[in-house]
Amino acid sequence: MAKLRTTYMGIELKNPIIIGASNMVQDHKFAKKLEEAGAAALVYKSLFEEQVLFERIQLQSELEAHNELHAEMTRLFPTVEHAGPKEYLVHLKKLKESVSIPVFASLNAMQKDTWIEYATLIQETGVDGIELNFYTMPEEFDRDASLVEEHQLDILDNVKRVLKIPVAVKLSPFYSNPLHVIGRMDDEDVDAFVLFNRFFQPDINLEDEVLHFPYNLTPESDNRLTLRFAGLLYGNINADICANTGIFNANDVLKMLLAGASSVQMVSAIMKNGADHIKVVLEGIEEWMDKKGYTYIKEFQGKLAKQKIKDPFGYKRAQYVDILLKSRDLYKQYPLK
Ligand SMILES: Cc1cc2nc3c(=O)[nH]c(=O)nc-3n(C[C@H](O)[C@H](O)[C@H](O)COP(=O)(O)O)c2cc1C
Repeated sequence: MAKLRTTYMGIELKNPIIIGASNMVQDHKFAKKLEEAGAAALVYKSLFEEQVLFERIQLQSELEAHNELHAEMTRLFPTVEHAGPKEYLVHLKKLKESVSIPVFASLNAMQKDTWIEYATLIQETGVDGIELNFYTMPEEFDRDASLVEEHQLDILDNVKRVLKIPVAVKLSPFYSNPLHVIGRMDDEDVDAFVLFNRFFQPDINLEDEVLHFPYNLTPESDNRLTLRFAGLLYGNINADICANTGIFNANDVLKMLLAGASSVQMVSAIMKNGADHIKVVLEGIEEWMDKKGYTYIKEFQGKLAKQKIKDPFGYKRAQYVDILLKSRDLYKQYPLK
């Protein structure tokens, strides 16, 4: 009988399925439902510094719009001020108290001081670990890649110094050499890497000729980049590898484990199929393990990582070589019209 226990951030989980960061678990009843369906852990939505700042500015301008009233209120209630991240922290604490599986927080700040301040406050809620949600969208032509990386490493170093709970880094694949960046972060004793962050990209509304941001979930099987990097990283870093993006079914989870991940995070699959989908995925994993005669995930985790396979090109081939070698098959499948 298959035993699915594994680790994330060095913490033992009953199985590899973590519900990734989103506002799904803001609803504690739904969080409980996810736990009952078999989720091994939950990640609460990110605390974004921009959001706190935005709300603060909004409150300020609302108060200024009623200046006289504001003066009155300040006299009557001298503590009237924006709650800052307090509301987030209260929700997080309640979530932690409402389930018995591990709960992780996620943080995305801008200023170094804020990263440290918020990470410390998050730790005080009693969560089991924290994901640092690192992302940068290139906007400036004169900002060297190394500056971006040094900034993230500096934040990581400082946050690690003040925290006792485990720390994961959720990052994007858009570095010149993600392996180098991850290797350097691993030297800072990161407890896990979440591969990868998925950004909402702008689209253009042709009718109104404006940019807009449609809320797109990940398309099924859009997970090969994650698979490649899990396979490249396994055996080369100390941190746990957590695969994220486009993981929908038991096969996706098993492939990630074979590549070297020890856990996965799912968001789109749960939003599309509901909490009970977790049961189906877990059954599928067990069924495959039983069929293959595996009792523990450790027996096959990383079996198909670059370090373990004999084919030296397995992880090297980019599209060019494959297209050259396989284009005949491709044209058979899609005859030219
Ligand atoms: C509605 C929604 C809210 C999200 N909120 C967050 C968030 O607060 N922090 C974060 O790091 N990722 C957030 N994500 C990204 C997910 O955690 C995940 O990385 C991404 O959706 C890819 O995984 P998936 O293919 O399983 O959806 C959000 C995604 C969705 C769809």
